[in-house]
Amino acid sequence: MDTAPALDSVFSLAGRRALVTGGIGAAVVARLVEAGVAVTLADLDTDGAATADRLGATFVACDVTDAAQLGAAADTAAGDSGLDICVNNAGIFPTTGPMQSASDDFVARMLEVNVRAVFSAAREAANRMPNGGSIVNMASIAALGGGAGISAYSASKAAVVSMTRAHAIELGPQGIRVNAIAPGVIDTPGVQAQLEPLRASGIDIDKRIAANPLGMAGQPDHIARGVMFLVSDLAAFVTGQVLVIDGGATA
Ligand SMILES: NC(=O)c1ccc[n+]([C@@H]2O[C@H](COP(=O)([O-])OP(=O)(O)OC[C@H]3O[C@@H](n4cnc5c(N)ncnc54)[C@H](O)[C@@H]3O)[C@@H](O)[C@H]2O)c1
Repeated sequence: MDTAPALDSVFSLAGRRALVTGGIGAAVVARLVEAGVAVTLADLDTDGAATADRLGATFVACDVTDAAQLGAAADTAAGDSGLDICVNNAGIFPTTGPMQSASDDFVARMLEVNVRAVFSAAREAANRMPNGGSIVNMASIAALGGGAGISAYSASKAAVVSMTRAHAIELGPQGIRVNAIAPGVIDTPGVQAQLEPLRASGIDIDKRIAANPLGMAGQPDHIARGVMFLVSDLAAFVTGQVLVIDGGATA
């Protein structure tokens, strides 16, 4: 039996290099930078430049549906030594509405951003991980159960889970671990925008956001903590898995 490494070395991410895309990504960037990782944040929204600057990360304007832009962002993130970590957060979650009136264009766009671009990002990252690495894809608890009015989103996130498992099997021999996180409702600008119509109709959306056994609103940092586990050597023997972080909503 191997001697177990010291706990601080298992936690340590110092000197590693990471690519992080969008959204909850800002909280992930903050934690990775805190851990001594050189982080590149790639986002369509150039407001991310100020966030990256504040957090001590590099910003690259990038539409994740454009493989060339993704490749350029991954090059920046990898530098000369190669990439160690890729966190695929960027995604869209417009409400599908009744499936009987969802257009093909709507469904295609959902799959384009939430599935095809995540595949491309995983490929661009894996191609720049000569020393092995860790990829984390943001799925959703919507991947694990259905829900009226969110069928296109559910389908896209279920595809992320399947892709994660398949990539884990394929990339394991190269020392690349691939896992997904399935967040419950997390208080982000995207969620606030989605729930705003409920607020306008008098529904207490903050109560909705905190509707889980722990009774508290999920915050981006709750997801970032899960990312830190999965990308660190704490999870050295974990691949192809989905970590549900939802305050027990699906318990
Ligand atoms: N917030 C939640 O409750 C929740 C729950 C489950 C899963 N998720 C998933 O977590 C991820 C992040 O969600 P969020 O709540 O932070 O969303 P958000 O809407 O607040 O942020 C999404 C980010 O993705 C970026 N983005 C969108 N399209 C892009 C593109 N084509 N190229 C580059 N960047 C693009 C946006 O600019 C934005 O920064 C998404 O994949 C989402 O599906 C979120």
